[in-house]
Amino acid sequence: MSETVIPSPAALARTAPIFDRLRHVIPEFEWPAFASDIDAIVELKRHRNAVVLAHNYQTPEIFHGVADIVGDSLALAREATKVDAEVIVLAGVHFMAETAKLLNPAKTVLIPDLEAGCSLAASITAADIRLLRQRWPGVPVVTYVNTSAAVKAESDICCTSGNARKVIESLNVPRVIMLPDEYLAQNIARETGVEIVTWAGHCEVHERFTATDIRAFREQHPGIVVLAHPECPPEVVAEADFAGSTAAMAGYVGAKRPPRVVLVTECSMSDNVAVQYPEIDFVRPCNLCPHMKRITLAKIRRALETMRHQVTIDPDVAGPARRAVERMLEVQP
Ligand code: 13P
Ligand code: SF4
Repeated sequence: MSETVIPSPAALARTAPIFDRLRHVIPEFEWPAFASDIDAIVELKRHRNAVVLAHNYQTPEIFHGVADIVGDSLALAREATKVDAEVIVLAGVHFMAETAKLLNPAKTVLIPDLEAGCSLAASITAADIRLLRQRWPGVPVVTYVNTSAAVKAESDICCTSGNARKVIESLNVPRVIMLPDEYLAQNIARETGVEIVTWAGHCEVHERFTATDIRAFREQHPGIVVLAHPECPPEVVAEADFAGSTAAMAGYVGAKRPPRVVLVTECSMSDNVAVQYPEIDFVRPCNLCPHMKRITLAKIRRALETMRHQVTIDPDVAGPARRAVERMLEVQP
């Protein structure tokens, strides 16, 4: 059973070095609630020959406590191709687990909660793409990785927020269909001469930020540096000092070390970056992704105990979906 229990003194002692790194973002009284699960997961990973891949939006006790590989969607897709372990636990949302399975068909890929979805992935179906192709004959379809394998299978190539411009420009065409994130497509369209046909999907976390929010941060915190994710509406990105994927935002903080910064994105991102840079003042607007937050330590532990939920993909879908992801990975970073 994976109920959280009062940790043994041994579990507390073994996890103490992890807590030392996290005391800046996790109150000491909360640590006992995490220590026994972290201790058990470390042992289960060894027993199952498993690794945990965690997205930047996972909570710090997962991101810094049990993850072996962390990053943005692009990094997780790339790293998934290099995993030696038998089992991959994807601490993230379902499309990320599907991408890991596409790239590692022989491995067991576990998602700790099958309901960890994504509003972008839910906004479009394979049938929608077939209709778009009828409307725009011959125009290539560039699909954000935040989609189901069935949607990827209907696409020419995938992209992430970290490589969208390069992927589009690699096609050497005057016009592409880019879906399903309308705002990401509009933000990329401003950077490139390629015409982009969009789809009206939105990230339910990033669409809530407004340009007024950004102006309020600047009024309340003079001199603050504003970093925004390109899933935000274009008027929000226009108000920011920099826009990029979650990894690009973390990279900006590491390179420039602004004294005060706001990451206009999901809540946990600031906690995870703040662990590395305790001297930086992170102003934290808190928009939670309910799908990312379905993943907990207890569910990761249970996934490894029970070897569930295993990600499976229909072989007729997996072949073309894998080609679209692999074609993306061939684009020079
Ligand atoms: P990246 O980490 O690739 O920037 O993606 C953000 C996101 O919303 C993933 O769900
Ligand atoms: Fe999807 Fe947005 Fe959540 Fe990322 S943050 S999983 S894009 S709903």
